[in-house]
Amino acid sequence: MLKSIIKGFGHYVPNNIVTNDDLAKVMTTSDEWITERTGIKERRHRKSRVDAEETTSYLGYKASLKALETANLTAKDIDFIIFATLSPDYYFPGCGVVLQELLGCDTIGALDVRNQCSGFVYAMSVANAFIKAGTYKNILVVGAEIHSFGLDFSDAGRSVSVIFGDGAGAVVLSATEDENAGDILAVNMHSEGKYAEELAVKFPGTKYGWSDQLVKNPDALTTQEVYPYMNGNFVFKHAVTRFPETMMEALEKAGKKPEDLDMFIPHQANLRISQFVQQRFGLLDEKVFNNIQKYGNTTAASIAIALSEAIEQGKVKRGDLVLLSAFGSGFTWGSVLFEY
Ligand code: UT7
Repeated sequence: MLKSIIKGFGHYVPNNIVTNDDLAKVMTTSDEWITERTGIKERRHRKSRVDAEETTSYLGYKASLKALETANLTAKDIDFIIFATLSPDYYFPGCGVVLQELLGCDTIGALDVRNQCSGFVYAMSVANAFIKAGTYKNILVVGAEIHSFGLDFSDAGRSVSVIFGDGAGAVVLSATEDENAGDILAVNMHSEGKYAEELAVKFPGTKYGWSDQLVKNPDALTTQEVYPYMNGNFVFKHAVTRFPETMMEALEKAGKKPEDLDMFIPHQANLRISQFVQQRFGLLDEKVFNNIQKYGNTTAASIAIALSEAIEQGKVKRGDLVLLSAFGSGFTWGSVLFEY
């Protein structure tokens, strides 16, 4: 019976720290508002909005190097890449193939996952299925984002732009038959596409316009099409319902209870959402990992970065029962429950 073990982990964020006070210099906001509503104190933005080198794939590459190092593997040992992002280097192709080239992997398959905040959970679930089926032995699972290039830093975009940050995280998920090793015990994935436009970037796309429009009639584009749009309150209300559902589904499937958890790592969407869920399940502070204060919401990268930091800091140890859960644009949501 094949098991899926997290063999390596790593994360990487751009050096450039942007504090709430920095944002207050370019838009009408304050450290007080951002801290109170979201818990965020600072986030990382790459230095310039357009940068051909520090791309999303590059961030993923740096995180992957660390994941390979901690796994004690080389790029040649990787037999599949799954890359979750909503901010790819190109409209197409995806980041997975760019990462394959940057790492110097063999001509292995590279799959991009486009499930936004749930991207890493979806990517882990897909990787787990490939491992359990015996298809691949060492899968590199990456979540990476560069949000800073495409946010509206005017007052019109302040409710969205203060939240998001840049960063990347990666794990190597490997097959093992070792009886004593950990394993992914349960996964679930959900979607509700009727809310697709409640949290979306609508342009470019085949519904609202293609690049052709940018050349011929850029003035026709509205900020709501070009920049991320989020119906914040609406998303918040759905998040606090779906988080407990997906968490319970994973725990029940594995015959576990909330009190069995050693660590819960929620997608870092808003500290208030994490705290709501923590209270609902009666989890102690030391059993919930949050780092949104430092990085903001990095969508597909957020759980990957948090997991990597939690292991690095010794807060997740071999044998621990860990739950990863996410909710976001799509709407999509899901969980991965594993023994580390
Ligand atoms: O990761 C994917 C999933 N995403 C989420 O789960 C995010 C869910 N939503 C949220 O986290 C929250 O809805 C936000 C943090 C986005 C917004 O917080 P909120 O408590 O829902 O605030 P709001 O949008 O209802 O705005 C309250 C007030 C408004 O002013 P008025 O109309 O009451 O005068 C906004 O104009 O706060 C104002 N506001 C701001 N003020 C200062 C909105 N953004 C800002 C800002 N600085 N950055």
